[in-house]
Amino acid sequence: MTIRNISEIELPLLLEAIYQKYGYDFRQYSEAHIKRRIMNRLALTPLVSISELQNKVLHDELFASRLLQDLSITVTEMFRDPDFYKSLREKVIPILKTYPFIKIWHAGCATGEEAYSMAIILKEENLYDRTTIYATDFNQHALNQAKEGVFSNEKIKEYTINYQRAGGKESFADYYTSKYDMVIMDQSLKKNIVWANQNLVTDSVFAEVHLILCRNVLIYFNKDLQNRVQKLFFDSLVNGGILCLGIKESLRFCDFEAQYIEVDKKQKIFKKKY
Ligand SMILES: C[S@@+](CC[C@H](N)C(=O)[O-])C[C@H]1O[C@@H](n2cnc3c(N)ncnc32)[C@H](O)[C@@H]1O
Repeated sequence: MTIRNISEIELPLLLEAIYQKYGYDFRQYSEAHIKRRIMNRLALTPLVSISELQNKVLHDELFASRLLQDLSITVTEMFRDPDFYKSLREKVIPILKTYPFIKIWHAGCATGEEAYSMAIILKEENLYDRTTIYATDFNQHALNQAKEGVFSNEKIKEYTINYQRAGGKESFADYYTSKYDMVIMDQSLKKNIVWANQNLVTDSVFAEVHLILCRNVLIYFNKDLQNRVQKLFFDSLVNGGILCLGIKESLRFCDFEAQYIEVDKKQKIFKKKY
């Protein structure tokens, strides 16, 4: 028998405890990611071991919700990776134009910037009125912020550059109003966005859709979990539907790789075969 160090034993026990008590399943997230976040939180407490942390998580719901926030990284931005959005506009929008009604799923939408970016492109391409955008995340705190559509002014300069690089047709300032140090996204962008709490690990097929964007989420999952979530996407997409992953993500080694053709290899855009 190999002797394991204590944290190798404690970590799975903590994740099991979180799952048993709160129903959030992190057991197949990437170990390096989970360990880093847990150790960061531990360092902010007077506790000395993951086992002590487990005790605290089980008995202190406020602390548990803080730890759950730690485990979900909600970093995002408007028109993140502008070249991706440029490709989306050039290669995916023409496909969407062939459908009478369009359903789009942003899985792991965080605070909503990705869904607002999509709404802007669809408006400029005269597709918004026949589209429903489902924007989902398992982090309710992030979803509440997304629904508000209020963002910090500080980022607007960067977002404006992203929008222009992504092939934006108007002035980015047309899509928000400034108030103090915040910007409020235009109400018309929210009209066809449905915000919903959905857990990619524990929930089943969400809806039948024409386009799925799940960008910068799968990097936090181990290979088995990535495969399971890819099945969920495969089952949710219509034939000929489009799947968009993050720049650092891929379909390589997943069971469904052969079921897609590449639309844009570099931008990780794939089309489900007919
Ligand atoms: C880094 S953000 C990516 C946001 C956006 N897609 C982007 O690329 O800018 C990852 C998001 O995935 C969400 N997430 C992580 N695990 C999830 C799960 N099991 N179910 C649903 N969302 C999850 C997190 O809450 C977080 O908001």
